[in-house]
Amino acid sequence: MNTAIRLIAGTAHPALAAAIAAELALPLTRCTIERFPDGEVAIQVHESVRGMTVCLIQPTGPPVNDHLIELLALADACRRDAATRIVAVTPYLGYTRADKRAGRRTPITASMVAQVMQAVGIEHVITLDLHAEQIEGFFQAPVDNLSAVAVLAEALRPQLPRETVVISPDAGRVRMATAYAQRLRAPLAVLHKQRVSGTETHVTHVVGDVAGRPCLLVDDMIATGGTLADGAAALRRAGAREPIIAAATHGLLLPGARERLAEAGIERLVVTDSLPINGTAPPAISVVSVAPLLAEAIRRCLGASATPT
Ligand code: R5P
Repeated sequence: MNTAIRLIAGTAHPALAAAIAAELALPLTRCTIERFPDGEVAIQVHESVRGMTVCLIQPTGPPVNDHLIELLALADACRRDAATRIVAVTPYLGYTRADKRAGRRTPITASMVAQVMQAVGIEHVITLDLHAEQIEGFFQAPVDNLSAVAVLAEALRPQLPRETVVISPDAGRVRMATAYAQRLRAPLAVLHKQRVSGTETHVTHVVGDVAGRPCLLVDDMIATGGTLADGAAALRRAGAREPIIAAATHGLLLPGARERLAEAGIERLVVTDSLPINGTAPPAISVVSVAPLLAEAIRRCLGASATPT
């Protein structure tokens, strides 16, 4: 197989796309992505993709629906131009928290998104720390669900005081927190979280010994900051000492999240660049690039026989 490759960036995260392209020493394919006055997306890929493998680099973070539609339209454009294979490089995949029915007459939106992505011709997905590993099963296509734990743990290692306890903010994150604890050779504690609403959570129990110890709260994503802010308050009530540091793969950091984290006394935050991180408001944020990790996954997905054009 002599596979020519096209890297195409949506508008979600041009800096990450450029970093991946630099890692692979490949150019980004020229394309125009615009909005009509009514909000519809208009796309034109300016170079042929016929017979090629196309990697569409587009994390579907906020505005999630716009970025998702852009990804789908890009895939459709490439399929109609007879691309041989379309790979979605979506380090953050929106809607993955909707991975089960929340009640009667509710959708499983993560499953729907997977079906739609495949319907437009996406045949392979490269992503990072999916909210739940079983989401991979919503796809018939192969999914490379990479983990940022190793790169984040390396960045955290020199920043952590002695005796730091790794904290899982809820039951769903225990596996990830255990991976951090093992890499950092640190003890683990788990919070019992109940979600009151989309913006409010409540920690009812701290399982593990945090008294007199600094803490590292880890999560897959920070959206409103509610989970980590509430977690930090519960840790303080349980006697944890400063600093309380937080790490997450995906820094959605919706408006107000930083303020919430700073008010909760979270001193530092370490996230990846799976999504654009804007602004300079406290807490201090270290951003670790996952471009090398994603580039390596693309390389492996394309196989040794792939030849850059
Ligand atoms: C929940 O299950 C997730 O793993 C995150 O803890 C949550 O989505 C973070 O959202 P927020 O920052 O709004 O609490």
